[in-house]
Amino acid sequence: MTTIIEPFRIKSVEPIKFTNETERKTILKDTGYNPFLIHADDVMIDLLTDSGTSAMSSKQWAGIMDGDESYAGSRSFFRFEEAVKRITGMDFVIPTHQGRAAEKILFSILGGKGKFFPNNTHFDTTRANIEYSGAEAVDLLCEVGKHPEEKADFKGNMDLDKLRAFILEKGPENIPLVFITITNNSGGGQPVSMENIKGVRKICDEFGLKFFIDACRFAENAYFIKIREKGYESKSVLEICRELFSYADGMTMSAKKDALVNIGGFLALNDDKLAMNCRNVLIVTEGFPTYGGLAGRDLEAIAQGLEEITDENYLHYRIRSVEYLGEKLLAAGVPLIEPTGGHAVYLDAKRFCPHIPAEEFPGQAVSIALYEKGGIRACEIGSVMFGKYDEKGKLIPPPMELVRLAIPRRVYTQSHIDYVAEIIIAVFNERHLLKGYKLSYEAPMLRHFTARFELA
Ligand code: F0G
Repeated sequence: MTTIIEPFRIKSVEPIKFTNETERKTILKDTGYNPFLIHADDVMIDLLTDSGTSAMSSKQWAGIMDGDESYAGSRSFFRFEEAVKRITGMDFVIPTHQGRAAEKILFSILGGKGKFFPNNTHFDTTRANIEYSGAEAVDLLCEVGKHPEEKADFKGNMDLDKLRAFILEKGPENIPLVFITITNNSGGGQPVSMENIKGVRKICDEFGLKFFIDACRFAENAYFIKIREKGYESKSVLEICRELFSYADGMTMSAKKDALVNIGGFLALNDDKLAMNCRNVLIVTEGFPTYGGLAGRDLEAIAQGLEEITDENYLHYRIRSVEYLGEKLLAAGVPLIEPTGGHAVYLDAKRFCPHIPAEEFPGQAVSIALYEKGGIRACEIGSVMFGKYDEKGKLIPPPMELVRLAIPRRVYTQSHIDYVAEIIIAVFNERHLLKGYKLSYEAPMLRHFTARFELA
């Protein structure tokens, strides 16, 4: 049998509101050409993010009803704690309202001026939390990871030589911990190999440094290890997850991704003193340690989600369905990051519309066109999200100009994805008509969320 079926049946549905191109043109104008500002009801297929957009299972919804809302010592906390420990083996588990709250706690304790945090690629909230503390966030992605057209199995790997050189240059005393993001969201959802994770551990041991994992998409990463890395073919995904976390001293997690929930996150770690400091901040900013920033029912849903996410039938379908979209696009010549990542297809806007310079945001132009043509919402990951300015106010663009089509977990069917491919190919075939944009408003931090644009 070659057809891979969705490993679930649909029990509850949400209608999609249909709009036409004329209506969408007005909507774009009214929202300053920023897809983040569009009313979700006006989006037909929402690929803005895979975060918090999963369809929960009937067992997760049952858990929502069953959640224990006790302020302290809730039964749901203990179920959640056990589920996290089962996969990660970490000693201390601290619930937060989402991933960035875990980051905020960690970096407000370990960050500060003169400190440096290396990572393969920091996600925007991680970078923002580090920089907000006064510290510097540094990306040390392997070279192949920066070239969308080059195919490799583990394009999310850290450049280990650069990491060692960086530690020697800045001094290990100024590096509170080394981070690695699995999968590498900002670099195409590309996985990190077990060998690379072991390599980072070895370097950290050499210099007496802590090693943390940004684990949002750990199960997708573990599945890639299973199918791509020698020696892991016959290991279960759960075994791979346990091994992977065994090399780390701690992790931050947005449960909105690979814990299949709409809200939630956590911090898990082995150092009891650091855990105590984190809990003290948690109490001030999030809540009591047995609920953090969450309700008991949310903890219950996370615990159940963590049980479901390592199901290999699910992961097979998940990785294959993203690849399926990538294959359709590649067959029509659409440029994208190859191979496709775990949670998303990333269009390469530099090659998609080479006539639009970075200063005019090619990724933004493509994502606007996808909405206008087909009501599809995607996310620019390029100069809008990561662009900086030099002293003269000239844009310093990031290495890649991407448009991310993030696929929510268990939400869209194959015909939705066929429609998405059809629209992207139609936009691509008329790509010479796309025009660049300029900013008419931008906030000083995380500007992509609220920026407004007009035609350049
Ligand atoms: N780390 C990574 C790698 C992420 O992708 C995200 C969120 C976070 C941390 C922060 O987690 O949203 O729960 O606070 N990524 C979402 C996205 C927003 O669309 O990729 P959060």
